[in-house]
Amino acid sequence: MTEGLRAERQGGPRAEHQGGRAAGHLADTTGQREEGELLNIGAICSDRVCARGHADRVALIWEGFGDRKATYTFGDLKVFSNGFAQMLVDQGIAPGDRVCLFMDKIPSLYFAFLGVLKMGGVVQPLFSAFGDESLEVRLASAGTTAILTTRKHVKKVRKILDRLPDLTHVIVVEGDPSKLKDGEVFFDVESAPRVEEFDVYRSGPETPSVLHYTSGTTGQPKGAQHAHDSIWGQALTTSWVLDLKEDDIYWCTADPGWVTGTSYGIIGPWSLGVTQCVLDSGFTSARWYQFIADNHVTVWYSAPTAIRSLMRDGDELVAKYDLSSLRHLASVGEPLNAEAVVWSEKTYGLAFHDTFWQTETGSIMIANYPGMPIKPGSMGKPFPGIAAAVLDLKTYEPLTEPDSVGLIAFRPGWPSMFRAYLNEPAKYASRFVGAADGATPDELRTDTSLWYVSGDRSSVDADGYFWFVGRDDDVINTGGHLVGPFEIESALVEHEAVAEAAAVGKPDAVNMEVVKAFVTLKPGFEPSGDLELSIMNFIRKKLSPLAMPQEIEYKDKLPRTRSGKILRRYLRAIEWGEDVGDLSTLEDD
Ligand code: PRX
Repeated sequence: MTEGLRAERQGGPRAEHQGGRAAGHLADTTGQREEGELLNIGAICSDRVCARGHADRVALIWEGFGDRKATYTFGDLKVFSNGFAQMLVDQGIAPGDRVCLFMDKIPSLYFAFLGVLKMGGVVQPLFSAFGDESLEVRLASAGTTAILTTRKHVKKVRKILDRLPDLTHVIVVEGDPSKLKDGEVFFDVESAPRVEEFDVYRSGPETPSVLHYTSGTTGQPKGAQHAHDSIWGQALTTSWVLDLKEDDIYWCTADPGWVTGTSYGIIGPWSLGVTQCVLDSGFTSARWYQFIADNHVTVWYSAPTAIRSLMRDGDELVAKYDLSSLRHLASVGEPLNAEAVVWSEKTYGLAFHDTFWQTETGSIMIANYPGMPIKPGSMGKPFPGIAAAVLDLKTYEPLTEPDSVGLIAFRPGWPSMFRAYLNEPAKYASRFVGAADGATPDELRTDTSLWYVSGDRSSVDADGYFWFVGRDDDVINTGGHLVGPFEIESALVEHEAVAEAAAVGKPDAVNMEVVKAFVTLKPGFEPSGDLELSIMNFIRKKLSPLAMPQEIEYKDKLPRTRSGKILRRYLRAIEWGEDVGDLSTLEDD
């Protein structure tokens, strides 16, 4: 065991759970690797770059709150990810175990991500602003064995630990070690002995790698399971769409708690040996511009909400900074409005290139490439090798008439495609059109006669450009982050005053949508501003600031279908000023 590691936890009261971890989840896929084959994202992103002679190249330029700064080479990346891998092995974590990373965008998050993969674990990054309930639902679903967190966030873990029998290891990677509770382990990779070499787990293309939770309309969030094979899709799109070259300085603004922050904030750039920057501090336009200027950022991948915020702060601010290092800009996560593209071209001399993809797709599917004429407001064209279409909303036949609106769909089989919704094979199968009953996940993802249906609507023009229309479900997209109405509604009715609840997205100039809740109250409670604040705060703490309703409307009763389901779509249509039409058409579908 390494120094800097306090193993108080070993032999502690919860140690007996170690043997009882939910190994069954992934056993069938981890067993599929070929003997002798090695395809490991952790090793490709660090060891391989060093082996190609780039150990001294800067891998990470990091800035935090205040004036905290640090720089790490690919050599450091190799040693520190080895450090995490070795520590996890010493702790008894086994290949296939889910290891959660629950921390801000500190350097250890990036080292640990690669470290978990190097030892064969499944890395489960969760957004550090999640409250205890959001955290618990995802850890319980994944049967997570270990969580790596910081002093700042460990309190949320302590609150739920007793209800998570599989979670046998709580490892704190930053902060004051003297403040830990019994059984918690402290591990500071930078002060621990350097682990120069680590025997990397011999993962193959189908070995599970990254697990991201994503929200749907119904039920709790689902765990989209990826495999090491994803790296081909991520490296290729990073190269062709984001245009990264070895001497670039790249900045992806996303948090690794979401898929953009892992596919393109870790795997894409580092698989190509490219230097990337991370800014772990709150958003202000001035701070972002200063960061670009100070670090000579050349390629910038961000999201429409951020771009609209920058736009709102105006051109005068832009003129105060030297942004001449920038050469390519791209965007993802929500519709990029035409005005934002036109504005960025006028203001930075560079247009943001929109890209479309999802947690499930693992890598960019539709994009505006460097050099391609951009039609502002369009998502661009399918990535080479990706067969994309829009399908008729009812028959699921591809639409051939230009500009007709249908469901965006892709032929299965691209490398970075998700391999499962963890423990939910029926939900996985429901994403494919044309599948035979009882088809296995492997059959589904390799059968190129099927369509994987994204859940979004779009049209395609005569030149083959895709134009986003909207989601085909009730999921709320706020600032590029998906939140599930069911998760919010379940939490709302846990508030002492709330009897029933519905959550929908309402329009917002910057975030595209924000959450609005409709509630009926229990007897004895009266509508008031104070109660509204109390409900909002309740959700912010339990779930996250993203899921917190920005407005609560009190109702005497909520509209329902004849079968009793709350008519969310009706409430949403009113918020968006859309024609509600014939209520019977909204029923039950
Ligand atoms: O609705 C689409 C929207 O974001 C969803 C995917 O969200 P998530 O799985 O969290 O992954 C986000 C980052 C890859 C999509 O189903 N979305 C993503 N990109 C765009 C978009 N909507 C419009 N335009 C885009 N470029």
